[in-house]
Amino acid sequence: MREKIVAGNWKMNKTFTEAEELMHQIADGLEQMEEDKVGVILCPPAIYLEMAIDISEESSFFVGAQNISEHESGAYTGEISAPMLASLNIDYCIIGHSERRKYFEENDELIGRKVAVAIHNNITPIYCCGEVLPERQAGNHLEVVKMQLEKAVFILPPSEFSNLIIAYEPVWAIGTGVNATPEQAQEMHAYIRRLIGAKYGQDIAHQMTILYGGSCNASNAGALFSQPDVDGGLIGGASLKAEEFLKIIQSV
Ligand code: PGA
Repeated sequence: MREKIVAGNWKMNKTFTEAEELMHQIADGLEQMEEDKVGVILCPPAIYLEMAIDISEESSFFVGAQNISEHESGAYTGEISAPMLASLNIDYCIIGHSERRKYFEENDELIGRKVAVAIHNNITPIYCCGEVLPERQAGNHLEVVKMQLEKAVFILPPSEFSNLIIAYEPVWAIGTGVNATPEQAQEMHAYIRRLIGAKYGQDIAHQMTILYGGSCNASNAGALFSQPDVDGGLIGGASLKAEEFLKIIQSV
């Protein structure tokens, strides 16, 4: 059985006290739920990662970063390296998010290097891919995602690739309130799994967790997660309210 996961991408939100409160609310909710069939990952801003690790020690959630440097150390002012994250016991890192691609001009080659450096430091990348609206409208969405996978992660040897989590996040659905339909998500997830099967074999394809992200909330999560190839979600806006995020977790 492949792992079901719900990850919360807090993006650049919450002050220290707000972040602390939200983490405790989620921890309390998880304790009451005794949920063990789904892995929960919180990805707060980097400045709160240490606090998240402390709180996670009393809870069942895991902690992920939102970004990572492609370099392991050195004169890169403002950056945070994989060994630094590993030294805090951070298990996951979102890599290749569309906001990093758009606002920070990250391309597939750079993203590929970030994925590799994360894996080499025992941090599981949550690799994001997805098409923009004109690409979907032109019917190119499958091809676009295939290219993103080929350039950034299909370059990995099987032993490394099998450590990945993939998140399909259609860019037109992120933060817009317009989620992909369950059928659209299933089509892409099944396609990604077929590509993985062709490249790495059926065993790896079958055990790979593929998350859906983009305006996923407590109302639509159940329908999205009930699709056979949707193994959970990467949640942005709806992960910022404990009650809603906990409901999403219960929808898996
Ligand atoms: P959203 O963001 O849930 O707010 O659409 C998802 C994401 O960017 O990971």
